[in-house]
This record gives sequence, structure tokens and C-alpha cells, in this order.
Amino acid sequence: MGPRRLPRVLLPAVAFLGLLFLSGLRLQVQLSACVRGGWPCGWLGGRGATAPPEQDGKPPHLSPTSGSRLPLPRHGTPPPPRAPRCPGQGFQISNLLAAFRACVTPEGEILLQEYLAGWKELIKLIDTLGAAFGLLARETQTKMEILEGHRSGPHAPHYRTLQAMVAFELRRGRVGLRVLPPDQPPSGSRTLLRLHRALKWLELFLGKLGRSGAEDDPSQLCAEAYQAALAQYHSWWVQQAAGLAFLALPSRRELYGLVCAEGEREAQAVLLEAVGTIAGVYNVTQQLYAACGLLELP
Ligand SMILES: *[C@@H]1O[C@H](CO)[C@@H](O)[C@H](O)[C@H]1NC(C)=O
Repeated sequence: MGPRRLPRVLLPAVAFLGLLFLSGLRLQVQLSACVRGGWPCGWLGGRGATAPPEQDGKPPHLSPTSGSRLPLPRHGTPPPPRAPRCPGQGFQISNLLAAFRACVTPEGEILLQEYLAGWKELIKLIDTLGAAFGLLARETQTKMEILEGHRSGPHAPHYRTLQAMVAFELRRGRVGLRVLPPDQPPSGSRTLLRLHRALKWLELFLGKLGRSGAEDDPSQLCAEAYQAALAQYHSWWVQQAAGLAFLALPSRRELYGLVCAEGEREAQAVLLEAVGTIAGVYNVTQQLYAACGLLELP
């Protein structure tokens, strides 16, 4: 490559990186504005959307997704035959299935501990989607920490199930408040609503992926799922950053590899089984929030 041709290759690359950097910068500005004003912003929006302090001096989204992070409580039931384990990989679809299956009780209640265990696995999945999803992974982590705080806080008995949590916070009149006093954690109902909306996006994306053919592009599928489920809650800047993140998604073959199934058909079956399980949890949550008039919480 001659010195005269070099700029032609380098310029678009530099421009792209600059755009990435700028959108990251804007995102930070957006996030601090959100914390001050209490507006929905970031991927998930609301208070607590700022990044938690870095661990071990490394940004969390750059750490390898080895099994070293987020050890999961094991559940009593063995993994189902359709969900193989992946040796040497952080994300385990069998853990995801086990947690979200155990999440809904026969009475139709949602157990928060299992719900959060399912999300822990989803965060590992998001982490493997690329560094551009790091902000989302960290925001999700923050939301989960808020809910864990409630679950181990002074009102812990009210935070065993989703139904009990919503009823408790509604009784206390704490749910709809846009800005809470600084010494109070954000309400569990508002915090979980952020996760709930993101869960729809993942449900749609994994569903599209599970039904996709060789000609389908995961970036396109992910963008469609985002448009349908999440974009309406986001500012223009966050939508642009999300669009860039989707462009860097792994290939369809790599994504199928994440479930460690034998062959494409099997991978699709495992994915769609996970989607069905997630949809069940999503639907119960959706009905409860709709019945309580909480779907439009700020
Ligand atoms: C969830 O709700 C949607 C829309 O109401 C419905 O089509 C779907 O079958 C439901 N899925 C589950 C698993 O309940």
C-alpha cells in the first residue's frame, strides 16, 4: 500500500472511531444530565444509570467472559437435555433456562431471586455481544444491585416476589415518584420496569435469531428488535449509539455457537425454547404492571 493510498483507507476508519468516541461522550453527558434531572436516559433510563466504579482497575465490559465472574447459585433441577453446557464459556443457556423456568410459581408469582439469576446470565450474554454493549451490561448490573439491595434491606420480606414488591411500594406511595430523596434507593418497581423493557428486546432478538436463515444479518435482526421494544424509551443519542453497537455484533454462526448445540437446527431449538421461557416471565410481569397502571412509570 503506497503512502498516497493510505489516507483513503485510514480516513473512514478514523471517522468511524471518532463517531464511536463522540457517541460515547454524548452518552456520558446524557447520563449525568439524567442523574441530575431524574429523566429516563441511557439504555435503561432512570436513576442509577451511571456506571459503577471499575473493578480491579479494568472496565467491566472489557473483562473476558470466562467463568470467573458472577458465579450462579445452582438450582436443584438438572439442566434439561435440550440445553447443553458449554465448557470454558461464561454464558450458559442452561442456567438461563433453569432460572427463568423456576421464576414463575404455580400460583403465577414471579420470584425475584430467580428473576435476577436469569438476568445475571443475560448480562453474560450481553457481554459476549461486543464491547459496545458494555454500557448496557453495566446499567443492567446497577439495576440488579438496586433490587438486590431491596431484597436484603429492612423490608426484605416484601421483596420475595414481584407481586409483593409492587403491592408494598404502591401502599407506601413510593412507586410513581419521579425524584426520590437522595438517601433513598430508587423504587424496585421502577427499577424492574427498566429490566422488563430490555427483556422484551432480548426476547425478540433471540426469537428472530432462532428463526433466521443463513441469509439473515444479526445486526439487522437486533436493530429490528430494538426498534420494536426499546427505541421508544430512548433519546436520539442513545438510539444512535445503540445502532453502532448493533453493527459490531458477532456473526450468526458465532451467536449460534454460544448455545453449544450440535448443529444449526438444534441451536435454533434451544434458542426458541429460551425465548418461550422468557416470554412466559415477560407476560406475567406485563400483566401485573398493566393491571396496576405502572407501564408508563417515568
Ligand atoms: C405472551 O403474550 C403474547 C402476546 O399476548 C402471546 O402471543 C404469547 O403466546 C405469550 N407467551 C407466553 C409464553 O405466554
